[in-house]
Amino acid sequence: MDRILNTSDGYHLHARFEGTGDGKIIFLHGFPFNNSQWFPQLESLGGHFSMLAPDLRGLGRSTGPVEPSAYSMAVYAKDIAEWFSDSGWDHAVVAGLSMGGYVAFEFLRHFPDRVCGLLLMDTHPYADSVQTLAERRRSQRLVESEGPRVIVESVLEKVLGPTTRSARPEIVQQARDMIIQASPHGVTGALRAMSARPDSSQDLSNITVPTLVLVGEEDMITPPEQVRQWTDSIPDSSLHIIPSAGHLISLEAPVSVNRAIITFMESLPG
Ligand code: MLT
Repeated sequence: MDRILNTSDGYHLHARFEGTGDGKIIFLHGFPFNNSQWFPQLESLGGHFSMLAPDLRGLGRSTGPVEPSAYSMAVYAKDIAEWFSDSGWDHAVVAGLSMGGYVAFEFLRHFPDRVCGLLLMDTHPYADSVQTLAERRRSQRLVESEGPRVIVESVLEKVLGPTTRSARPEIVQQARDMIIQASPHGVTGALRAMSARPDSSQDLSNITVPTLVLVGEEDMITPPEQVRQWTDSIPDSSLHIIPSAGHLISLEAPVSVNRAIITFMESLPG
Protein backbone atom coordinates (compact mmCIF):
# COMPACT_ATOMS: atom_id res chain seq x y z
CA MET A 1 0.00 0.00 0.00
CA ASP A 2 1.32 3.47 -0.91
CA ARG A 3 1.36 6.11 1.81
CA ILE A 4 2.01 9.86 1.72
CA LEU A 5 3.37 11.97 4.56
CA ASN A 6 3.12 15.76 4.50
CA THR A 7 6.18 16.87 6.42
CA SER A 8 6.18 19.70 8.94
CA ASP A 9 8.27 21.77 6.48
CA GLY A 10 5.87 21.27 3.57
CA TYR A 11 7.19 18.35 1.46
CA HIS A 12 5.30 15.25 0.35
CA LEU A 13 7.08 12.02 1.14
CA HIS A 14 6.03 8.69 -0.33
CA ALA A 15 6.44 5.27 1.24
CA ARG A 16 5.26 1.76 0.66
CA PHE A 17 3.73 -0.01 3.63
CA GLU A 18 3.29 -3.80 3.69
CA GLY A 19 2.51 -6.58 6.14
CA THR A 20 0.66 -7.18 9.35
CA GLY A 21 3.12 -8.81 11.77
CA ASP A 22 3.96 -7.48 15.24
CA GLY A 23 7.65 -7.00 14.36
CA LYS A 24 8.19 -3.66 12.64
CA ILE A 25 10.93 -2.73 10.19
CA ILE A 26 11.63 0.58 8.47
CA PHE A 27 13.83 0.20 5.37
CA LEU A 28 16.11 3.10 4.30
CA HIS A 29 17.45 2.98 0.75
CA GLY A 30 20.88 3.79 -0.68
CA PHE A 31 22.17 6.45 -3.08
CA PRO A 32 20.83 7.40 -5.62
CA PHE A 33 18.01 4.90 -5.43
CA ASN A 34 14.50 4.76 -4.03
CA ASN A 35 12.25 2.43 -2.06
CA SER A 36 11.86 0.00 -4.97
CA GLN A 37 15.25 -1.43 -3.96
CA TRP A 38 13.27 -3.03 -1.10
CA PHE A 39 10.41 -4.49 -3.15
CA PRO A 40 11.79 -8.08 -2.84
CA GLN A 41 11.58 -7.71 0.95
CA LEU A 42 8.19 -5.96 0.97
CA GLU A 43 6.73 -8.56 -1.39
CA SER A 44 7.99 -11.64 0.49
CA LEU A 45 8.00 -10.76 4.19
CA GLY A 46 4.50 -9.30 4.61
CA GLY A 47 3.27 -12.46 6.34
CA HIS A 48 5.95 -12.00 9.01
CA PHE A 49 6.37 -8.27 9.71
CA SER A 50 4.92 -4.77 9.32
CA MET A 51 7.25 -2.88 7.00
CA LEU A 52 7.59 0.71 5.87
CA ALA A 53 9.93 1.74 3.04
CA PRO A 54 10.02 5.50 2.44
CA ASP A 55 11.57 7.35 -0.49
CA LEU A 56 13.99 9.74 1.21
CA ARG A 57 13.14 13.38 0.52
CA GLY A 58 13.94 14.45 -3.06
CA LEU A 59 14.34 10.84 -4.23
CA GLY A 60 11.86 8.38 -5.73
CA ARG A 61 8.44 10.02 -5.60
CA SER A 62 9.19 12.19 -2.55
CA THR A 63 9.47 15.91 -3.08
CA GLY A 64 12.31 17.89 -1.53
CA PRO A 65 14.08 21.24 -1.55
CA VAL A 66 15.93 22.39 -4.66
CA GLU A 67 19.04 23.69 -2.84
CA PRO A 68 21.57 20.98 -1.91
CA SER A 69 22.43 22.89 1.28
CA ALA A 70 18.95 22.08 2.64
CA TYR A 71 19.81 18.36 2.82
CA SER A 72 21.55 16.66 5.74
CA MET A 73 21.48 13.36 7.62
CA ALA A 74 19.70 15.20 10.44
CA VAL A 75 16.90 16.27 8.08
CA TYR A 76 16.51 12.73 6.71
CA ALA A 77 16.44 11.40 10.31
CA LYS A 78 13.74 13.90 11.26
CA ASP A 79 11.64 12.71 8.30
CA ILE A 80 11.99 9.14 9.57
CA ALA A 81 10.79 10.25 13.00
CA GLU A 82 7.76 11.83 11.31
CA TRP A 83 7.06 8.50 9.59
CA PHE A 84 7.14 6.77 13.00
CA SER A 85 4.63 9.26 14.43
CA ASP A 86 2.42 9.10 11.35
CA SER A 87 2.38 5.28 11.56
CA GLY A 88 1.73 5.18 15.30
CA TRP A 89 4.98 3.26 15.77
CA ASP A 90 6.78 3.60 19.13
CA HIS A 91 9.82 1.69 17.96
CA ALA A 92 11.01 -0.51 15.11
CA VAL A 93 14.04 -2.22 13.67
CA VAL A 94 15.84 0.28 11.44
CA ALA A 95 17.32 -1.27 8.31
CA GLY A 96 19.64 0.88 6.22
CA LEU A 97 21.65 0.03 3.13
CA SER A 98 24.75 2.14 2.45
CA MET A 99 23.47 5.77 2.57
CA GLY A 100 20.44 4.33 4.38
CA GLY A 101 22.90 3.07 6.99
CA TYR A 102 24.31 6.60 7.38
CA VAL A 103 20.73 7.77 8.03
CA ALA A 104 20.24 4.91 10.52
CA PHE A 105 23.32 6.01 12.53
CA GLU A 106 21.99 9.58 12.61
CA PHE A 107 18.49 8.42 13.57
CA LEU A 108 19.90 6.33 16.41
CA ARG A 109 21.80 9.38 17.72
CA HIS A 110 18.68 11.58 17.74
CA PHE A 111 15.92 9.05 18.51
CA PRO A 112 17.49 6.12 20.40
CA ASP A 113 14.22 5.12 22.07
CA ARG A 114 12.65 4.48 18.68
CA VAL A 115 15.18 1.81 17.68
CA CYS A 116 14.82 -1.77 18.95
CA GLY A 117 17.26 -3.33 16.50
CA LEU A 118 19.58 -2.39 13.65
CA LEU A 119 20.05 -4.05 10.29
CA LEU A 120 23.08 -2.46 8.67
CA MET A 121 23.73 -3.49 5.07
CA ASP A 122 26.75 -2.68 2.91
CA THR A 123 27.48 0.45 4.87
CA HIS A 124 30.11 1.92 7.21
CA PRO A 125 30.25 4.43 10.08
CA TYR A 126 33.10 6.68 8.85
CA ALA A 127 32.89 10.25 7.53
CA ASP A 128 34.01 10.88 3.95
CA SER A 129 37.72 10.85 3.10
CA VAL A 130 39.27 13.81 1.28
CA GLN A 131 39.20 11.79 -1.94
CA THR A 132 35.51 10.88 -1.55
CA LEU A 133 34.63 14.51 -0.84
CA ALA A 134 36.35 15.55 -4.08
CA GLU A 135 34.51 12.81 -6.02
CA ARG A 136 31.17 13.93 -4.56
CA ARG A 137 31.84 17.57 -5.55
CA ARG A 138 32.63 16.42 -9.08
CA SER A 139 29.45 14.29 -9.25
CA GLN A 140 27.43 17.20 -7.89
CA ARG A 141 28.70 19.52 -10.67
CA LEU A 142 28.06 16.88 -13.34
CA VAL A 143 24.51 16.15 -12.14
CA GLU A 144 23.76 19.88 -11.89
CA SER A 145 24.78 20.42 -15.51
CA GLU A 146 23.71 17.15 -17.19
CA GLY A 147 21.28 15.37 -14.85
CA PRO A 148 21.53 12.00 -13.02
CA ARG A 149 21.92 10.10 -16.32
CA VAL A 150 25.56 11.22 -16.40
CA ILE A 151 26.48 9.13 -13.32
CA VAL A 152 24.61 5.95 -14.33
CA GLU A 153 27.52 3.89 -15.62
CA SER A 154 29.98 4.88 -12.89
CA VAL A 155 27.43 4.07 -10.17
CA LEU A 156 26.36 0.73 -11.71
CA GLU A 157 29.95 -0.39 -12.11
CA LYS A 158 30.59 -0.01 -8.38
CA VAL A 159 27.21 -0.85 -6.92
CA LEU A 160 26.45 -4.19 -8.59
CA GLY A 161 28.63 -7.26 -8.16
CA PRO A 162 30.18 -9.03 -11.16
CA THR A 163 27.76 -11.96 -10.75
CA THR A 164 24.73 -9.69 -11.08
CA ARG A 165 26.24 -7.68 -13.92
CA SER A 166 26.96 -10.79 -15.96
CA ALA A 167 23.95 -12.98 -15.11
CA ARG A 168 21.02 -10.72 -14.05
CA PRO A 169 20.33 -8.10 -16.77
CA GLU A 170 16.90 -7.34 -15.27
CA ILE A 171 18.53 -6.18 -12.00
CA VAL A 172 21.03 -4.05 -13.91
CA GLN A 173 18.11 -2.46 -15.78
CA GLN A 174 16.14 -1.88 -12.57
CA ALA A 175 19.12 -0.16 -10.93
CA ARG A 176 19.72 1.91 -14.08
CA ASP A 177 16.06 3.02 -14.17
CA MET A 178 16.14 4.11 -10.52
CA ILE A 179 19.14 6.39 -11.21
CA ILE A 180 17.77 7.84 -14.45
CA GLN A 181 14.41 8.59 -12.83
CA ALA A 182 15.97 10.34 -9.81
CA SER A 183 15.49 14.10 -9.62
CA PRO A 184 18.67 16.19 -10.01
CA HIS A 185 17.99 18.03 -6.74
CA GLY A 186 17.39 14.76 -4.84
CA VAL A 187 20.74 13.45 -6.09
CA THR A 188 22.73 16.62 -5.42
CA GLY A 189 21.01 16.98 -2.05
CA ALA A 190 21.99 13.42 -1.09
CA LEU A 191 25.58 14.07 -2.21
CA ARG A 192 25.66 17.13 0.02
CA ALA A 193 24.08 15.28 2.97
CA MET A 194 26.63 12.46 2.69
CA SER A 195 29.56 14.91 2.39
CA ALA A 196 28.51 16.77 5.52
CA ARG A 197 27.71 13.76 7.68
CA PRO A 198 29.56 13.29 10.96
CA ASP A 199 31.74 10.30 11.75
CA SER A 200 29.74 7.64 13.64
CA SER A 201 32.58 5.27 14.46
CA GLN A 202 32.96 6.59 18.02
CA ASP A 203 29.28 5.72 18.66
CA LEU A 204 29.54 2.03 17.79
CA SER A 205 30.56 0.79 21.24
CA ASN A 206 27.53 2.59 22.74
CA ILE A 207 24.98 0.82 20.53
CA THR A 208 22.87 -1.25 22.91
CA VAL A 209 20.34 -2.79 20.50
CA PRO A 210 20.88 -6.12 18.72
CA THR A 211 22.53 -5.46 15.38
CA LEU A 212 22.86 -7.60 12.29
CA VAL A 213 25.36 -6.47 9.68
CA LEU A 214 25.01 -7.85 6.16
CA VAL A 215 27.46 -7.35 3.32
CA GLY A 216 27.68 -8.74 -0.19
CA GLU A 217 30.65 -11.00 -0.83
CA GLU A 218 31.41 -9.00 -4.01
CA ASP A 219 30.81 -5.53 -2.54
CA MET A 220 33.48 -3.20 -3.94
CA ILE A 221 32.35 -0.07 -2.06
CA THR A 222 32.26 -1.55 1.46
CA PRO A 223 34.14 -4.86 1.10
CA PRO A 224 33.53 -7.61 3.70
CA GLU A 225 37.02 -7.33 5.22
CA GLN A 226 36.47 -3.60 5.87
CA VAL A 227 32.99 -4.20 7.31
CA ARG A 228 34.32 -6.89 9.65
CA GLN A 229 36.70 -4.34 11.22
CA TRP A 230 34.00 -2.02 12.54
CA THR A 231 31.25 -4.59 13.20
CA ASP A 232 33.22 -6.00 16.14
CA SER A 233 32.96 -2.63 17.93
CA ILE A 234 29.17 -3.00 18.27
CA PRO A 235 28.59 -5.06 21.45
CA ASP A 236 25.57 -7.19 20.45
CA SER A 237 26.34 -7.68 16.77
CA SER A 238 26.91 -10.35 14.19
CA LEU A 239 28.10 -10.23 10.60
CA HIS A 240 26.68 -12.28 7.77
CA ILE A 241 28.24 -12.32 4.31
CA ILE A 242 25.80 -12.66 1.41
CA PRO A 243 27.28 -14.85 -1.36
CA SER A 244 27.44 -13.85 -5.04
CA ALA A 245 26.19 -10.29 -4.44
CA GLY A 246 27.68 -6.80 -4.57
CA HIS A 247 26.62 -3.62 -2.76
CA LEU A 248 22.89 -3.69 -3.58
CA ILE A 249 22.14 -6.95 -1.77
CA SER A 250 18.40 -6.34 -1.26
CA LEU A 251 17.94 -6.66 -5.03
CA GLU A 252 20.91 -8.84 -5.93
CA ALA A 253 20.34 -11.62 -3.39
CA PRO A 254 16.81 -11.28 -1.96
CA VAL A 255 16.45 -14.92 -0.90
CA SER A 256 19.58 -14.86 1.29
CA VAL A 257 18.82 -11.37 2.61
CA ASN A 258 15.22 -12.25 3.47
CA ARG A 259 16.30 -15.41 5.25
CA ALA A 260 18.83 -13.42 7.31
CA ILE A 261 16.18 -10.80 8.19
CA ILE A 262 13.71 -13.47 9.41
CA THR A 263 16.36 -15.18 11.56
CA PHE A 264 17.41 -11.84 13.06
CA MET A 265 13.85 -10.69 13.76
CA GLU A 266 12.99 -14.01 15.41
CA SER A 267 16.03 -13.64 17.68
CA LEU A 268 14.90 -10.27 19.10
CA PRO A 269 13.55 -10.20 22.64
CA GLY A 270 9.79 -9.78 23.11
C1 MLT B 1 25.15 4.10 -1.49
O1 MLT B 1 25.01 3.01 -2.04
O2 MLT B 1 24.24 4.61 -0.82
C2 MLT B 1 26.45 4.84 -1.69
O3 MLT B 1 27.45 3.95 -2.10
C3 MLT B 1 26.86 5.57 -0.45
C4 MLT B 1 28.07 6.44 -0.66
O4 MLT B 1 28.25 6.97 -1.77
O5 MLT B 1 28.80 6.66 0.32
